[in-house]
Amino acid sequence: MTAQRTHARTQVGIVGAGPAGLMLSHLLSLAGIESVVIETRTREDIEATIRAGILEQGTVDVMVSTGVGNRLLDTGSRHDGIEIRFGGESHRVDLASSAGRSVHLYPQHEVLRDLIAARLAADGDIRFSTSEVSLHGVTGTEPVIHFTDADGRPAELHCDLIAGCDGAQGTAKWSIPDSRRTDHFRAYPHGWFGILAEAPPSSKELIYAHSARGFALISSRTPAVQRMYFQCDPTEDADSWSDNQIWDELQSRVAGSGSPLNEGTIFQRGVIPMRSYVCDPMQHGRLFLAGDAAHTVPPTGAKGLNLAISDAVVLAQALERFFGTGHADLLEGYGRTAAQRVWRAQHFSWWMTSMLHLAPDTGDFDRHRQLAELDQITGSAAGRALLAEGYTGHPIAHTNPRSVVSEALRLTAGRRP
Ligand code: PHB
Repeated sequence: MTAQRTHARTQVGIVGAGPAGLMLSHLLSLAGIESVVIETRTREDIEATIRAGILEQGTVDVMVSTGVGNRLLDTGSRHDGIEIRFGGESHRVDLASSAGRSVHLYPQHEVLRDLIAARLAADGDIRFSTSEVSLHGVTGTEPVIHFTDADGRPAELHCDLIAGCDGAQGTAKWSIPDSRRTDHFRAYPHGWFGILAEAPPSSKELIYAHSARGFALISSRTPAVQRMYFQCDPTEDADSWSDNQIWDELQSRVAGSGSPLNEGTIFQRGVIPMRSYVCDPMQHGRLFLAGDAAHTVPPTGAKGLNLAISDAVVLAQALERFFGTGHADLLEGYGRTAAQRVWRAQHFSWWMTSMLHLAPDTGDFDRHRQLAELDQITGSAAGRALLAEGYTGHPIAHTNPRSVVSEALRLTAGRRP
């Protein structure tokens, strides 16, 4: 006998408790709009999964102005510059003077911990450990999310609208029919070999290195734990490398002037694929996609989390207008508004990737062209400004100046952390 489905109702059904879904739920609750978040993973898994760690200025502003920025300000670190190494020389790009903005190093799982804590403290409804999630009736006026809850009971959540925030592997986007959807996709011929190591930091700022052996990035997690990457074949088997081989590879790629690379004990490793994807359109009927569910960027510019937050901000403003006034104009324009920023970030991530990585068909000519480009970008004020503007993030659209999120951002503007 099949169990009876439990029924519940909410204003916004959110599929996925990643950065987009949790931030959306948080912003909606500040605006007095109800939501329920449906997530297949456990809370522990979400809070422990290591991802990138750079927050654009706009992401920091949103977190601080909406009351989830305390730990970020206490334990994250502001970076006013980045280092670019090429041809054995180190070049600093001062983000603060080139773009008037900075970034913060604060790992994504810490952002998720803060958002989950804020939602639960406000009696927010997050259903972890669900399964068999499917969307129904997204082109009608009452779409429904079917799922099996953590206790194995089948359930139905009836909503006014659904936000598909279920990540790159999620299925929400498949509710947009093939005939209405264009999948813009590019796979890069490389991956990133990433490690976490117990080691002292090598530098106060991130180091992006171009070398004859390919790209490397030296980042950090805490004063005692460092995050490092080097470009590899996308099919590379991370376990086939000895620790010594990994350190030799990293050392050879960052060799040259500038601070030396500190080694330590490697305790996690893995290969990350590099892809660009944009789902066009980002909405269909009463389904609105946000974050990785709608787009993926290669990790080079650390844009993934930041795009998820900016999508949530744009969508929250549109939903506040919809529920407050009944006007659907901003909702109808959501995908167009969000996609403009997404494509800028796509371009930026592609550009940094193409400037710093060696592809299998990168010959001598291309390598010299890359070095000339890096020379131009780091050696001219206009070049540094272009890089710094993209790196610190383009502005997030304020489409609804009367919304709670827009108001909060205005109140904190000028008080830069
Ligand atoms: C990271 O710390 O994981 C990180 C930092 C900057 C990037 C990508 C990843 O561009």
